[in-house]
Amino acid sequence: AGRVRIRHLQDYKQQGFKWAMLTSYDQLSAGIFDEAGIPVLLVGDSAANNVYGYETTLPVTVDELIPLVRAVTGSTRRALVVADLPFGSYQESPEQCFATSARFMKEAGAHAVKLEGGTEMVPQIEKLASGGIPVMAHIGFTPQAEHQLGGYRVQGRGDAAQELLETARAVEAAGAFAVVLEMVPGEAAAAITEALSIPTIGIGAGADCDAQVLVWQDMAGLRGGRMPRFVKQYADLRTSLLDAARAYASDVESGTFPAAEHTF
Ligand code: KIV
Ligand code: NA
Repeated sequence: AGRVRIRHLQDYKQQGFKWAMLTSYDQLSAGIFDEAGIPVLLVGDSAANNVYGYETTLPVTVDELIPLVRAVTGSTRRALVVADLPFGSYQESPEQCFATSARFMKEAGAHAVKLEGGTEMVPQIEKLASGGIPVMAHIGFTPQAEHQLGGYRVQGRGDAAQELLETARAVEAAGAFAVVLEMVPGEAAAAITEALSIPTIGIGAGADCDAQVLVWQDMAGLRGGRMPRFVKQYADLRTSLLDAARAYASDVESGTFPAAEHTF
């Protein structure tokens, strides 16, 4: 069937076919999601939290993300792989943004990049689009700006909905091929989805977006603790893994493992 291309995502919107995106940061999960037919995989800067154990996405670097992107592109046959640009690697100038994005494409085989921000990122988006790099925008709640936004809060409520729509129009006009809407009221996200010709990808943005995205460990229940309201857990991998680790340790302690069939 070949790789999913950005034109296929455009076709999906025209056909009204809704699709799912997941994050992935490693070979095995990428191969599984590719086999499941997930058309777009995002190597999110959420690797900061889900791989490296940082408290926010701010500390993660390009050098830390590149090997993860390489693992994902190398383990997929069909999915379009998007590399998330980390904080500080693109905001300074369109030139900085292009240089960072080119590294993800040359050194890790990324098919597209994603960056956070609205109207202020128009020069960056234009630079990438004109240089042949597909760029996914990300507006609404943008975690790299959490200190400026005052924590995890819904964006685009009430009067701010109109401004968010203008922002969405601006990133589309600049050349983004899709836009992530994070923590946006369902009604505002629906209006943006209707107004844009590029696909909208919601996370905490209701059912009317063209696509949805979740962090895979949230979707699969690998992470414990309190989940954001927008997460649905489709498995309980944390319990499975906890049980497996305990059973293994107990078998070793009791001498049940290894048995004869595991022994040369
Ligand atoms: O880094 C990430 O995981 C993301 C998605 C949740 C959109 O940016
Ligand atoms: Na991100």
